[in-house]
Amino acid sequence: MAIVIPIINLKGGVAKTTTSVGLAEMLTSDFKKKVLFIDLDPQTNATVMLIGEHKWKDLNDQGYTMARLFESALKPEEFTFDLKRTVQKNVSNIISCENLDLIPSSLNLINIQDDLTRLPPGKFYTNNPYDILRKAIQPTMNNYDYIIIDCPPNLGVITLNGLRIATGYIIPTIPDVLSTYGIPQIINRVNDFAGEIGYPIETLGIVITKYRETSNVHQTNRAKLEKEIDAPLFQSVFKDNNQMASAADFTMEYGTFRQKWGYSGQFNAFYNLAKEIVERYERR
Ligand SMILES: Nc1ncnc2c1ncn2[C@@H]1O[C@H](COP(=O)(O)OP(=O)(O)OP(=O)(O)O)[C@@H](O)[C@H]1O
Ligand SMILES: [Mg+2]
Repeated sequence: MAIVIPIINLKGGVAKTTTSVGLAEMLTSDFKKKVLFIDLDPQTNATVMLIGEHKWKDLNDQGYTMARLFESALKPEEFTFDLKRTVQKNVSNIISCENLDLIPSSLNLINIQDDLTRLPPGKFYTNNPYDILRKAIQPTMNNYDYIIIDCPPNLGVITLNGLRIATGYIIPTIPDVLSTYGIPQIINRVNDFAGEIGYPIETLGIVITKYRETSNVHQTNRAKLEKEIDAPLFQSVFKDNNQMASAADFTMEYGTFRQKWGYSGQFNAFYNLAKEIVERYERR
């Protein structure tokens, strides 16, 4: 069974997408894992990073995105979700990423989100709004070692669809006051949700992103997170670095992970993050 890891935070711009895309690429390129990437964010940033805007537009016109899945749940008589055609094989602009597949997102998800919350809730209702993703991808889950999910900056019904199938989740955060503020609330909300669905969801850990060594605020908040008892902290730290931001440009092509993400520490940061995760789950 695949290990399913959503990347979540209520805060925007804390590198959820960057962390999830880099982690997925690392797991396929250097750990030789089979990975499915699910983009649940209507902003479609991860989708565009992995297949480019042009390809996304084509797929969106044909209805081969996450939006069609949720539309189909709302109006089964009008829409059908085609899992096989929606899963994009061998994505990424790194040649050494051989087994990375993608379920693309869509800007159209923005409008659907509100309608989803109006579906009658309840555990035993056939159209449980939290269960839409799980039901749809069940036929393909066993084809992968890992499923990485990029989530929007909220804990709305779409994010909860990702948490519904989660083995454990990761919280990326910039170590500053505002970014770390809501973390205990996220952990509580996920624990409550795990109780509601009757499955444990592990808080895999917090990962520090965009770290500036010269910043007192960053140093102080990093030290706080190290002492934190709410959740473990990954040892791997992502420093603030321009090439991390350049990696968002799909129009370039790269041979290796290092060429895309950069040589000065970024490779090691992703490698060590992936290693901590793989060791956590494969030692069992
Ligand atoms: N380590 C880093 N150093 C410098 N820039 C970074 C780093 N990590 C991410 N970025 C940049 O910061 C911006 C925000 O990152 P990203 O889009 O991954 O965050 P996000 O949490 O997914 O945002 P959103 O909440 O909007 O989905 C992007 O422009 C990204 O390229
Ligand atoms: Mg994002």
